Amino acid sequence: MMKRLRLGVLASGRGTNLQAIINATGDGRLRAEVAVVVVDQAGAQARERAKGAGIPEFFVDLGAYPDKRAFEGEIAAILDRHGVELVCLAGYMRILTPVMLDAYRNRIINIHPSLLPAFPGLHAQRQAWEYGVRYTGCTVHFVEEEVDAGPIILQAVVPVLPDDTVGSLSARILEQEHRIYVEAIGLYQAGLLEIEGRRVFVKSQESRIQISGRRI
Ligand code: GAR
Repeated sequence: MMKRLRLGVLASGRGTNLQAIINATGDGRLRAEVAVVVVDQAGAQARERAKGAGIPEFFVDLGAYPDKRAFEGEIAAILDRHGVELVCLAGYMRILTPVMLDAYRNRIINIHPSLLPAFPGLHAQRQAWEYGVRYTGCTVHFVEEEVDAGPIILQAVVPVLPDDTVGSLSARILEQEHRIYVEAIGLYQAGLLEIEGRRVFVKSQESRIQISGRRI
């Protein structure tokens, strides 16, 4: 029997990706549990979602610390106390410092609403829509120093339709975010992910399939 992976989720806002992860741990799709949720915004809806699922949640206020490193030291301490093995950024809108990156090297993943490396940063769905691309999507990747740039685990492609608004496009991307985030956590939990430089491989008994940049 594989043990349940202990997840720590960092969020800043409404928390639908957090909810997708909670749902998947609850209905058996993921052999994992959300051990703790940390938010950096007092009003984040993610807090209510955590409470609703009986998950401990903490608001850590950057303004209450002398600098960002001290703030992240507190977040890392909370994650450590809850025995977190994998950190999932779910709409966490801050760049991590080496405090978190060193404490959880190769154990932090993020979901981003574009096909990276296109459209990193804020409002990725709007950036793609305004640019006029025919296809965009979402990416789950390991987190490194550079923003939205770590090795890619999974991506999903979403076509941009002629009558799309930023809102309708974002909604279709979000559906895929929820799907591939759960899938990526499942691969990590099963110990199947192997990072080699920028590439992520999925290990299997007989062969190694490179999935970086492709949907599986
Ligand atoms: C999601 O679309 C996520 O991909 C994005 O923020 C949203 C959070 O929604 N993250 C980023 O843009 C990170 N660069 P949620 O709070 O409902 O999960």
